[in-house]
Amino acid sequence: MPTDHSDAFVFFGVRGDLAHKKVFPALQALVRSGELDMPVICVARAGWTSEQLQDWVRASLEEHGGVDPDAFVHLCSRLHYVDGGYDDPQTYVHLKQALGGVARPLYYLAIPPSLFDSVARALAAAGCADNARVVLEKPFGHDLSSAQALNRSLREVFPESAIFRIDHYLGKEAVLNLLYFRFANAFLEPMWNRSYIDNVQITLAEDFGVQGRGHFYEEVGAIRDVVQNHLLQVIALLAMDAPQGSDTRSMRSEKLRLLQAMRPLDAEQAVRGQFYGYRDEVGVAPDSQVETFAALRLYIDTWRWAGVPFYIRAGKCLPLSVCEVLVTLKRPPLTVFDARPQARPNYFRFRLGPEVTLATGAYVKRPGEAMRGETVELVAHHSPDHDESPYQRLLGDALRGDASLFSGDECVEAAWRVVEPLLRQPGALHSYTPGSWGPAAAAGVLDVDDQWYDPQAEALSPC
Ligand code: BG6
Repeated sequence: MPTDHSDAFVFFGVRGDLAHKKVFPALQALVRSGELDMPVICVARAGWTSEQLQDWVRASLEEHGGVDPDAFVHLCSRLHYVDGGYDDPQTYVHLKQALGGVARPLYYLAIPPSLFDSVARALAAAGCADNARVVLEKPFGHDLSSAQALNRSLREVFPESAIFRIDHYLGKEAVLNLLYFRFANAFLEPMWNRSYIDNVQITLAEDFGVQGRGHFYEEVGAIRDVVQNHLLQVIALLAMDAPQGSDTRSMRSEKLRLLQAMRPLDAEQAVRGQFYGYRDEVGVAPDSQVETFAALRLYIDTWRWAGVPFYIRAGKCLPLSVCEVLVTLKRPPLTVFDARPQARPNYFRFRLGPEVTLATGAYVKRPGEAMRGETVELVAHHSPDHDESPYQRLLGDALRGDASLFSGDECVEAAWRVVEPLLRQPGALHSYTPGSWGPAAAAGVLDVDDQWYDPQAEALSPC
């Protein structure tokens, strides 16, 4: 193992939903690929025996992706359990003993952000923080000032280079492909600006509700849950200038410049919605004003993007689960052939999930005498969902100390700055029917000539 590689994985939050659905399957995959040949220390106040911990891990794998007998046995041989509360100094004394001669532990905190600070301090007080790395789950703070306070207090314990703020969207194969496609090809760059691009739409739709996470969701809502992080990060990759290289510093500095150029959002550019039935969920207030849907119009004030609207739509209980970016180009300046303007201007379509698609929409002539056309899609790349999960990729990167796909302190704060005015004065909340595309009022964020497109329809019809 290279000397800079972490040599123990310490997991806080093993009993959570995320651990169950995503993290244990990722750890099994990391064992299978040989990247996790080290102690895996789980910290919890569950009063478990080692066997009970193993049963917990097995149950997670059985439900999410399956048990790989060899990798599972190997993972179990590396598992250790430290029992105790996060607020109990004795827990960290026991953790220190379990770490033994480990030189570079990695702490993965999949716990409520309100506990990040106290856990980091307790690690330091017990002498566990030296030379360590820490990975923090989202949400990173609740607003700008809480994120700033968290950054300050974490930096008292860990250097910025050892802090890994995870956003699993940045580990998705499709998002990495978007980044690669943009900067590995020369043909996009001349048209990737306000002269050629009319508008950009990004949709993150989910066909399910809050799935028993009512308590959590009441604290966040759609804007904090997926816009401030996942979607602004995707837009940053889509719109930023070319980084000098793929190293952490180059990637972060270009992303930061872009995030800082985003015009802060307010209620004028937003429509918030809540699906009928949300208030009946466990943990949700009967008069909740929390949004489960948001439609937004964002501007990026740079020479490249001035005046180009970036439309964002995210919501629960929509007609399907999909994440897609549609970049619509301007129409040709003159109509030479068809009497009517083209039904659809040219576009680029990046499907980020569930499958990966890179496609471009062009107009071609229909067979026959008349000079009439139709839109066809040229598909550059299409593949089913990739095997390596975002968590496998990102946790593997963190173990190696590669932070290029993690958010730096300034990027996280810049993203909070964008949504802050809207969070403070969120404006009206509109109800919508589950299975619809959100409240009709969502059309209000679009310019008169624009429409929301339906990602499930052939040839991208409006919806
Ligand atoms: C999480 C949000 O960060 O992202 C969830 O908390 C959301 O509410 C999820 O469902 C979406 O991620 P994915 O990878 O399933 O598209």
